[in-house]
Formats: sequence, structure tokens, C-alpha cells
Amino acid sequence: MKIKNICCIGAGYVGGPTMAVIAKQCPNIKVTVVDINQARIDAWNSDDFNKLPIFEPGLAEIVKEARGKNLFFSTNIDKTIDEADMIFISVNTPTKTYGKGKGMAADLKYIELCARQIAKASKQNKIVVEKSTLPVRTASAIKSILDNTGNGVQFQILSNPEFLAEGTAVQDLLDPDRILIGGGSSEKDQKAVDALADIYANWVPKDKILTTNVWSSELSKLTANAFLAQRVSSINAMSEICEKTGADVREVSKAIGMDSRIGSKFLNASVGFGGSCFQKDILNLVYIAKSYGLNEVADYWEQVILMNEHQKNRFSDNMVSTLYNTVSGKKITFLGWAFKKDTNDTRESAAIKVADNLLNEQAKISVYDPKVSEERIYTDLDYLNTRSSDENKSLLTINKDPYDACKDSHAITILTEWDEFKSYDWKSIYKNMQKPAFVFDGRGLLNKKELEEIGFVYYNIGTGN
Ligand code: UDX
Ligand code: UDX
Ligand code: ADP
Repeated sequence: MKIKNICCIGAGYVGGPTMAVIAKQCPNIKVTVVDINQARIDAWNSDDFNKLPIFEPGLAEIVKEARGKNLFFSTNIDKTIDEADMIFISVNTPTKTYGKGKGMAADLKYIELCARQIAKASKQNKIVVEKSTLPVRTASAIKSILDNTGNGVQFQILSNPEFLAEGTAVQDLLDPDRILIGGGSSEKDQKAVDALADIYANWVPKDKILTTNVWSSELSKLTANAFLAQRVSSINAMSEICEKTGADVREVSKAIGMDSRIGSKFLNASVGFGGSCFQKDILNLVYIAKSYGLNEVADYWEQVILMNEHQKNRFSDNMVSTLYNTVSGKKITFLGWAFKKDTNDTRESAAIKVADNLLNEQAKISVYDPKVSEERIYTDLDYLNTRSSDENKSLLTINKDPYDACKDSHAITILTEWDEFKSYDWKSIYKNMQKPAFVFDGRGLLNKKELEEIGFVYYNIGTGN
């Protein structure tokens, strides 16, 4: 079976870039991305390619090339579903904020709504592909809804988790480490697996396309994120020991990373991991383990999250104690708000927690981030409900110019590893600050020696002073 027409439900950080790349690599397939959010679809259709809803290096160029040819963005969901042979579900699956499993389980409300909409709108057989990260066995829930509420047409359900990382989405999609497709064992299911594998085979070598059963595929995605997050928490735990003992965490990372069994990637100590996936997926894993009575397994993975919370709190505590135990009324500059560089995404960013802690100490914060909007920063803080929106606005200001953001401040903290921070004129920043001028580098981004020579008091994660 050759797929000619793809519908993707959800035009977010996963659906948007993934479909843009499929459209670019498969000129003979028509790809339509649909969303209930009209503003988001309008932004994807914007003539100004700087206004796309998602910033990813290289993405605008691909959208420019494919949009209007075989890549479309629309809010006409039912029609697009009906016309498609294959439907990807890429809607958000946040952590539940209510009821059973609150704060842990994935909220499958949006997935279920999607399944019901697919059932209602489909008049011909379809292959339905889970792209969003989902708890193990979600495919069977989707299948049950489709089979029982549909128009008698046949659905094959596949799991095809996305492993792209934000900031490198396009590169990850064009040259993935692997493509994982989970499907059932019946002949029809296997045909569906082949149809999806054929799409990727347009640009991904066959030996990188891995097929498994549905549950292995669903669980592999949670496992990959849990392992990656665990590496960050592990090196962050070591960073605290380094600070006490005089070891340097960068030297430790390098030394252990040269062991081929460990590997050198993902060993950068930081102020804490963020992003929409790590925390959500581990909480989800913990919830699944608990629901099977696997308490030791649940406790093991929960430590990864607890360590991450500790790292964020320890960072802000250290700022307060270094600044003579009070930051009340002091201006503190945040360079970076995004959860990592090269993205405008701020979900679970460490900057949010560090800001909240410092605002509790009555600091006056000034933020500069090259890609994150002012509205987003205030929404992130207001969402915590720690203080009123008016208070957040009066205590935290946002600057469009980094030098203005740093002027007259007592301390600068680096929360995102944006490259541009390295090339700033740190001498002139120093001149315009209160003295002693502190830098708290949550990303190990700047050069300690250079900054100290200028006169800064420089604190780096994982290095004893
Ligand atoms: C270990 C370190 O590997 C080595 O670098 C260090 O110098 C000494 O400690 P060793 O204990 O000799 O070496 O053997 P290793 O191969 O690491 O195995 C340790 C244990 O882990 C064994 O019981 C092994 O069966 C087990 N293991 C290892 C697993 O259960 N699964 C694995 O994937 C790997
Ligand atoms: C992650 C997975 O990498 C990706 O495969 C999956 O599809 C989605 O979740 P993402 O959250 O976009 O991707 O970014 P990632 O590069 O994994 O970084 C996550 C967080 O960990 C960031 O806050 C980053 O700064 C932090 N991090 C990462 C560290 O603090 N140290 C490291 O060494 C690596
Ligand atoms: P992710 O990082 O998983 O891509 P996002 O929040 O960026 O998450 O994107 C998910 C998108 O899915 C949002 O734009 C949201 O409006 C859309 N969405 C959620 N539910 C539905 C639905 N039932 N139909 C269509 N789009 C939906």
C-alpha cells in the first residue's frame, strides 16, 4: 500500500517540524497539518517566515519550500481526516492537573477527543499513527474507541514515537539515529507497518528503521527520555560533590565520557533539565510502575525528578547566600529563559523555578532572552500561582537589549546556553554593574578566567571556588 495523503492532528513542536520534513522528503505525498487552534494555523500560514509559531534552525526554509506545494496547514479537521490514508496524532499529552493520577499520569483527554473525531470523520480504512508520547497500552484504548464509535471502517494503529530534540529538530528529523515503528502481528497490521516504513525509507537507511510490537515501541520512548534525564541528574548530583571537594565536574564528565560504555554525550552539569518531555515522561513512568505495584521501580525513577528539583533550588539558594543572604530589592539579570538554546520553548525551564524562588526573596529581576516572547515569560510565572499577575509584572521586567538588562544589576545569571552570550562585551557589562559584580553561570557557558580577570565574582556549577 502506497500512502498518498497524510493528515497530522496537532501543529505543535512535534507535528509541525515532523510533517514539514516528511513533506520535503516525499514530494509525492500530500501532507496536511490540522489544529483546533486557529491562531497557530494562521501563524504557520504566515507570509512572514519569521512569524512561524515555532522557532527551529532550518525550519522556516523547509516550510517555505514545501508549503502550498505538498504541505498545508488547516483547521478543517474532519475533511482532512476523511481525505487521508494515514493520520498522525501529535496532540499534547500534559501531566494531569486534576483527579486520579493528578501531577503524575498523562492527561489523555486530547488523545481521546482525537480518536473520537477520527472515528466520526472517517469513511474509508485508515492507518492511525501515535506520534505523541503516550503511556504504554494507549494504542489499545485508541483502537477500542475507533472500532466502537466509527462508521464500520477498519483502522490499523501504529506507534511511531518521535525522538527529535528541540533546537535540533530539523537535523534530528533529516538524520535520525533510528526510526521506531510498533505494530500488531496480523497481516493487515504488518502491511500498515510497511506502509509507514516506506515513507521513512525515502531518506532514512533501512537498517535504521526498527520495528517492534506496539507496547515495546510505546515503552521505548518513555525509557529513552528517562535514561537521558537520569544522566543529567546523575552528573548534577556529582556537580554538588565537586563543589564541596574541589573536583571539577567538567573534568569528571570528560574522564567518564571516554569510557565507551558510558559515552560522552549528555553529561553537561546544569541548573537542571527542562522541556516538555523529561519530567512528564518520568512522572508517567512512575505512575505506571505504581499502578502495577512496582514501588521500588517507581521510587528509583522518581529520584531523577527530585534531584532535578534540588539542583534548581540549590542554584537559587546559593545565589541568595552569596549575595550576603539578601536579594531583597536587588536587581538580578537573567540571561536566557528558554529551557535550552535555539528554541523559543520554555516548558519546565529551570529559569522559571529560579525566578520564582528569587521573587519570593523580593529580588527585582530583569530578563533577556533572544527568542522567548514577553507574554510567554509572564504566562510561565503566572501559571505557578505563587503571587498575583500584577506582582509578577512589577517585580520582573523584560528587556529587548541584553546590555540594558544587565545595567545596574548586582548579579547576572545564565539560565540558557545561547551562543550569543559568549560574545558579549563583558568588560562594558561589568563597568555598568553594582560592585562586587557577580555572575552565576547555570550552564558552564562563560570563561571563568576571563571573567575573573575583568573583576567579576564568578560562580560555576560543579567547580569548587
Ligand atoms: C567493573 C567496571 O566495569 C570496571 O571498569 C572497573 O574497573 C571495575 O568494576 P567488573 O566488576 O570486573 O568491572 O565487571 P563489569 O563487566 O563491569 O560487570 C559488573 C557486573 O555487572 C557483573 O556482575 C555483570 O554481570 C553485571 N552487568 C554488566 C549486568 O548485569 N548487565 C550489563 O549490561 C553489564
Ligand atoms: C528530549 C529528548 O532528547 C528527545 O529525544 C525527545 O524526543 C524529547 O525530549 P528536548 O527536551 O527537546 O528533547 O531537549 P534535550 O536536548 O533532551 O534537553 C532537555 C533538557 O536537558 C534541557 O533543559 C537541557 O538543557 C538539559 N540538558 C541536556 C542538560 O542539562 N545537560 C545535558 O548534558 C543535556
Ligand atoms: P507537542 O510538543 O507535543 O507538539 P504542542 O502543545 O506544541 O505539543 O502541540 C500540540 C498541538 O495539538 C496544539 O497546537 C493543540 O492546539 C493541538 N491539539 C490538541 N488537541 C487537539 C484536537 N483534538 N484536535 C486538533 N488539534 C489539537
